[in-house]
Amino acid sequence: MGRWKVRDVHLHVVERGSGPPLLLVHGFPLDHAMWAAQLEDLSRDARVIAPDLRGFGASDSGGDVVLMEDFADDLAALLDVLGIAEPVVFCGLSMGGYIAWQFVRRHRARLRGLVLCGTRAAADAPVAAEARRVNAERVLREGAGFLADAMLEKLVAAETRQRRPDLVAALRRTVLAASPQGLAAALRGMAARPDASPWLPQMELPALVVCGSEDALSSVEEMRGLANRLPQARFVEIAGAGHLSPLEQPPAVNAAVRSFLALPELSTARR
Ligand code: MLT
Repeated sequence: MGRWKVRDVHLHVVERGSGPPLLLVHGFPLDHAMWAAQLEDLSRDARVIAPDLRGFGASDSGGDVVLMEDFADDLAALLDVLGIAEPVVFCGLSMGGYIAWQFVRRHRARLRGLVLCGTRAAADAPVAAEARRVNAERVLREGAGFLADAMLEKLVAAETRQRRPDLVAALRRTVLAASPQGLAAALRGMAARPDASPWLPQMELPALVVCGSEDALSSVEEMRGLANRLPQARFVEIAGAGHLSPLEQPPAVNAAVRSFLALPELSTARR
């Protein structure tokens, strides 16, 4: 656990294990804690690094608009600060996946592979982008309560909501603890993100696409389509999970990631 000066902010970062680096990039409006089960288990195979992105968790906020490019540049700078020169596997969930597209474009040499959980390549439709900008103003005025109410319904599968009230309560606490400035800046940044779909066929690197069977935000069809457009992707559907499959069904997600990390093409890429 540490707090590191990265560009113009301090980022809070949790690290476990040693070996090939695995960078875990959380979704909106969460923080590194969504990866608790991966930090615990995958640190047997890898050096697992889970930062709080700027504006989230215990990291500083910075800027009124944080583009996906900015988050990607923060992460590349964080690897420098941590002294990690070897290529990493970048694992992003949802907004973490939007950041992954920019990381590939801007920092390709730092990558060994990609894990994409519950995400999409398309930009927001104009109506959705406008709704994000409206929500950015609202969160600054009234705090994150309305976001927690609106999002928790959609983030996890119905089964998770019923069986794991503890998990839903912890998610709510995380959303309510987030800084309104950080949330607003990321909402504006997501609204401005470009369509990454045309870039997918050029992304020549091993990829694992992970989708919860009940994901209400990134459907199985959409994610399977995304995997089909990536030249070297495998697709895994996680039964009984919604949008947050790493949190909802950790054994299945960890097994998929572990098999991916063991692929010969990933060890070749390290040399
Ligand atoms: C996330 O989980 O990061 C969000 O669902 C992303 C989004 O709002 O598009």
